[in-house]
Amino acid sequence: MSNERRPLVAGNWKMHGSRAANTALLDAVVARLGKLDIDVLVCPPFVYLAEIAQRLAGTTIALGAQSLCVEPVGAFTGEVSASMLKDVGCGYVLVGHSERRSLFHEDNGVVARKFAAAQAEGLVPILCVGESLVERQGEHTFAIIREQLDAVIQLAGISAFANAVVAYEPVWAIGTGLTATPEQAQAVHAFIRGHLSHQDANVASALRILYGGSVKGNNAAELFAMPDVDGGLVGGAALKADEFLQICAAANRS
Ligand code: PGA
Repeated sequence: MSNERRPLVAGNWKMHGSRAANTALLDAVVARLGKLDIDVLVCPPFVYLAEIAQRLAGTTIALGAQSLCVEPVGAFTGEVSASMLKDVGCGYVLVGHSERRSLFHEDNGVVARKFAAAQAEGLVPILCVGESLVERQGEHTFAIIREQLDAVIQLAGISAFANAVVAYEPVWAIGTGLTATPEQAQAVHAFIRGHLSHQDANVASALRILYGGSVKGNNAAELFAMPDVDGGLVGGAALKADEFLQICAAANRS
């Protein structure tokens, strides 16, 4: 981590939770988070957002959604728009999570449109990028990530990254227990910052780049110690108060 960028830890709950479980988890996190010099946010499923926004009012924890519709309004059954997310209290939204890309066939073009749709309503998009195991083994990691970034730059412009966050999540590390080594993460984070820096050095140096993929209480500190790792996007460990708090504490120290 660097002193210039405020660390950020985001919990991606994916399709987990219930009203009772959410309350228990947030009560435990809020009670023990303390005053940290970092940003913390949680991304619960859509249906819980409004209720959780109320629970988080007056705390330092922000709220994010896990996805959004590319369209602002209209006949799009089952979808949720950026303005609705804003309306219920979200400040952030994930776009391009690998599960959205692979299971729901969201390509780079759709991800770029979601990024722009989020910003159009004043939400901060957290753009997820990352390579699969086959892509890494074929040494295509940088090419894949460059394409994922370029699609967004082309549509939204480099200056849009001044109000965005990027999360590097190697697909092979998500939910598998296989974490990228700190050096592997740093290499890709430096590549991302360098690639954006060719277009705007100030935007690139201020951009927060999170690492995601089996971040746990016991490996967070070494990942966050890397100079271009500015925090974490945490899945499984965000569902356990102890683990999540440990990760937040590691971000605060790094
Ligand atoms: P994980 O998920 O921490 O369970 O690997 C990370 C993510 O998919 O955001």
